[in-house]
Amino acid sequence: MKICVFGAGYVGLVTAACLSELGMDVTCIDKNENKIAFLNEGKVPIYEHGLKGLICKNLINRTLNFTTDPKKSIEASEVIFIAVGTPPLEDGSTNLKYIIQVANTIANYLNGYKIIVIKSTVPVGTGEMIKKIINKELAARKKEYSFDVVSNPEFLKQGVAVNDFMKPDRIILGVESEQSHLIMRKIYESITSKNIPLIVTNIRTAEMIKYASNAFLALKVTYINEIANLCEKVGANVLIVAEAMGRDSRISPKFLKPGPGFGGSCLPKDTKALVNMGNNYGEPVSLVQQTIVANEKQKQRVVDKVKQKIGCLQGKTIGVLGITFKSNTDDLRDAPSLFILNSLAKEAVKIKIFDPQGEKNGRLIFSDTQKFYFCKSPYEAVEHADALVILTDWEDFKNLDLLRIKNNMKDYYFFDFRNMYEPDLIEQYGFHYFGIGR
Ligand code: UGA
Repeated sequence: MKICVFGAGYVGLVTAACLSELGMDVTCIDKNENKIAFLNEGKVPIYEHGLKGLICKNLINRTLNFTTDPKKSIEASEVIFIAVGTPPLEDGSTNLKYIIQVANTIANYLNGYKIIVIKSTVPVGTGEMIKKIINKELAARKKEYSFDVVSNPEFLKQGVAVNDFMKPDRIILGVESEQSHLIMRKIYESITSKNIPLIVTNIRTAEMIKYASNAFLALKVTYINEIANLCEKVGANVLIVAEAMGRDSRISPKFLKPGPGFGGSCLPKDTKALVNMGNNYGEPVSLVQQTIVANEKQKQRVVDKVKQKIGCLQGKTIGVLGITFKSNTDDLRDAPSLFILNSLAKEAVKIKIFDPQGEKNGRLIFSDTQKFYFCKSPYEAVEHADALVILTDWEDFKNLDLLRIKNNMKDYYFFDFRNMYEPDLIEQYGFHYFGIGR
């Protein structure tokens, strides 16, 4: 089956690569010429486990290609996936500019029945909006092609996105016709045949499922962060609290790890969009509203803790391990590190940073070379530092040579904002240990 995917970002690339791996003939379209040339050489602009191998294999097999030319791809495709960005606007609402551009492009080149699948996270009602745009353009062209819109939200987690695509917890299809339903079923047949649930509903419900899911995850993380903060005050251990809570199958152990606050390109944006949607419909989603506020406080709390424990940050050097919003990604979008490092840098003299994959993007953000220094190893980052601060739970930070670190630091503050280490162990080495919630 011939398919094209609009957008060569995280979602578009994973979708295109995985669909080609499932046996489809896929063209991925993006306006960025450099990116497309790069991809056609088998080079992948983002770090995502397993993606490069999949792209190279399917490029060689000619089941995947990249282009900037939408005309040929639209005309040749039976199914068109939209996976372009839906960034937030100032008021938290969703900027649908790229979605609208793609809808217009599709309408321009439509030459027969096609299915238009929305993968991007879009507010409820966007499917209908796309339909209207295409119908209007077709009327202007005096053409009468039929088409169907499908909502097929993605639930990919960065770092494990390929695996999430191939082995999802569920597939959601918001459909409006039997024809599109059957074709979509066929696309995902090799996945759903392995006992993966397929939930078929209408487009509005499918669009809502995505927001309701992401906001719930944000809420869950924020809940455990607030419980962790309270644990510190009452002398309880949040790790044991979370483990015991997670044993209740109604709660589940996932998304109960306290940390410096949730970040990334999805949870912060989607919680704001849901709040915006609720306000627009006169049904405020107050819990989610509060989640956003509490998440901002969590980042401030991290900054306050470092300041309080060290006393005065003037003249101090801080070694930071991990700046990406989570491990196994090179992404810093809305990462807690953005607020935390900029706040610390207002007082501390030097922030030394090491991140296994985040340096390239990090240099663009932490660009003040008088304040921020990028290092090649965790050891270089903490050399002559007064404090070590872990913000991302990279595997690389699990077994640090603690003696080496201790011998090279100036002072011995150890802030473990992902609870990667046992406090007793760290204290045995002579550090002052501070985790979250214990
Ligand atoms: C999230 C959802 O998990 C995906 O299902 C969804 O498809 C995706 O957004 C999207 O809408 O595209 P992602 O942004 O990759 O995926 O990140 P998560 O794994 O959800 O983590 C989000 C944030 O929560 C990170 O900053 C992470 O460190 C934090 N987190 C997560 C915690 O602090 N504790 C936890 O227990 C889990």
